[in-house]
Amino acid sequence: MNKVQIVSEIKRLKAEKNAVIMAHYYQEDDIQEIADFIGDSLALAQQAAKTTADIIVLCGVHFMGETAKIISPDKMVLIPDLEAGCSLADSCPSDAFEAFVKAHPDHTVISYVNTTAAVKAWTDVVVTSTNAVAIVNSFPKDTKIIFGPDRNLGNYINGLTDRSMLLWDGACHVHEQFSVDKIIELKQQHPNAKIIAHPECKKVLLSLADFIGSTAALLKYVQRSDFDTFIVATESGILHEMKRTCPGKTFIPAPPNDSTCACNECAFMRLNTLEKLRDCLLHESPQIQLDDALMKQAYRPIKKMLEISERLGL
Ligand code: 13P
Ligand code: SF4
Repeated sequence: MNKVQIVSEIKRLKAEKNAVIMAHYYQEDDIQEIADFIGDSLALAQQAAKTTADIIVLCGVHFMGETAKIISPDKMVLIPDLEAGCSLADSCPSDAFEAFVKAHPDHTVISYVNTTAAVKAWTDVVVTSTNAVAIVNSFPKDTKIIFGPDRNLGNYINGLTDRSMLLWDGACHVHEQFSVDKIIELKQQHPNAKIIAHPECKKVLLSLADFIGSTAALLKYVQRSDFDTFIVATESGILHEMKRTCPGKTFIPAPPNDSTCACNECAFMRLNTLEKLRDCLLHESPQIQLDDALMKQAYRPIKKMLEISERLGL
């Protein structure tokens, strides 16, 4: 089958099965183009809560599929490749996190959405990079907080909110790989370019950035900016939507340290392909399946995040 045939097969299966295709901004271009909805982690969770479809095809990584399933347990949630994990979620095994939480019983536990359901079960409130600062700020200043698993995002929030949350020592392999030296070189070549970065990047890189935000926030920034050139320090999949919505502007993907690898692409996100999307709809497999009791425990902190976000208009 060629690409045109695969696309038409996906459309046919989607209509026949009353399915909705949701994709993260880091998905390959073809998947973003066929998706009914594209968004950041928060928007995908919000869409999962309100969709009337019978099947959600979550084109993203495993924790995003889990989050959709936990929010909509009665729906079938498909993911094109079950192996699409997340190095950040992997950096926080649930048994070690449980021990960390138990060792600090007087702490409120705030976890980034890039975690397994088992870690969320030990969490008081989940956050994404879109709402993390606002949610942390919704707690009184003297609240003792554990934040996991991303140390870079945690440090960034500590700085912005003037807090000293206890941080889990995890990180994302994509966002830690950007080369500060090469970004400085690029800035010298393009002095009018704005450097924009995801808060999962290292502190030294964030200190160079003109704007820091989630994928959705970075997108909004470039759309509203009067500037026309941007050096983008996050997974390069976001450039597709930036270019589509800002055709007159120039986007330069920030290079990784190792120029021989495609390390500014998330290898997990890129496991999903148009063919696998078609196959998962056709066979209704692989599905996200979770234990009922675990889903109930993990839903509590996600629900809290959705409620606070709604209250704050996020
Ligand atoms: P966003 O919530 O900003 O889309 O980020 C998700 C992610 O996995 C970043 O690496
Ligand atoms: Fe996880 Fe990093 Fe990939 Fe985002 S870019 S899904 S944090 S491995």
